[in-house]
Amino acid sequence: MSTYGPETYGERNADVYDEWHADLDPTDAVEYLADLIAKGPTGPVLELAVGTGRVTIPLAERGIDLRGVDASEAMVALLRAKPGGERIPVTIGDMVDVDPGTDDRFAMIFVVFTTFFFLMTQEDQVRCFANVARRLLPGGRFVLECLVPDLARYQRNQSVDAHRVDQDHVRLVAVRHDPIDQRFDGQHILITNEGIRLAPVSMRYAWPSELDLMARLAGLDRVHRWGGWRNEPYLGTGTHVTVYEKPAEPPA
Ligand SMILES: C[S@@+](CC[C@H](N)C(=O)[O-])C[C@H]1O[C@@H](n2cnc3c(N)ncnc32)[C@H](O)[C@@H]1O
Repeated sequence: MSTYGPETYGERNADVYDEWHADLDPTDAVEYLADLIAKGPTGPVLELAVGTGRVTIPLAERGIDLRGVDASEAMVALLRAKPGGERIPVTIGDMVDVDPGTDDRFAMIFVVFTTFFFLMTQEDQVRCFANVARRLLPGGRFVLECLVPDLARYQRNQSVDAHRVDQDHVRLVAVRHDPIDQRFDGQHILITNEGIRLAPVSMRYAWPSELDLMARLAGLDRVHRWGGWRNEPYLGTGTHVTVYEKPAEPPA
């Protein structure tokens, strides 16, 4: 059995990623992030796990100095092939190290679409927060969009959902939940007349309160928690958009 590493999701999903997520409109995220960037310190902005550039490319079109990091060459190749994508500097590496190979400091670092949970242990998530805090400029922000785990979906710690069913195409999502390590291990199972194709996805979830504690350990202050990109109130379910801030350095 092959092991699941930082590059596995991207390498096994890249060819279907944009098609399967075509209905995910980045407009609200781009609006929110652009507004926050305009109110923060001046400097480059980094997306952790930038993928095919779904959010970063339209954000860069606003004249913002965007960078990216991603573990998958296959995902980044798709970003580079898109108009505007070739101008965005992307490092291939593990986001736990934030931006391996550079020492740049950032006005904002963000990670969307629950991808922070692709760091598979609490230790790596804590380490990522610490590295983010080290690489932010004073007053810089760390923005996360994460799902709030809905454990009621799992009976006997497992679930199967039919995402698409039509004449020649069935897509199922099968997930096992490990409540001890807070893991979801899943497979997107695509069944067509040509055969079966598996696209794995695993994540280690954290509760919003656990993320707040990681931020506090890293010396970051929570400044916003919304229920979405349009400043909807956070009601404890669905997804949350949370903004942490690195305190400005006291005057000398
Ligand atoms: C669900 S996609 C999100 C891509 C993009 N941010 C978006 O919103 O469309 C997850 C991305 O995370 C990347 N990834 C997973 N684990 C990673 C890690 N430890 N370090 C860097 N990138 C990682 C994958 O290669 C993939 O591009």
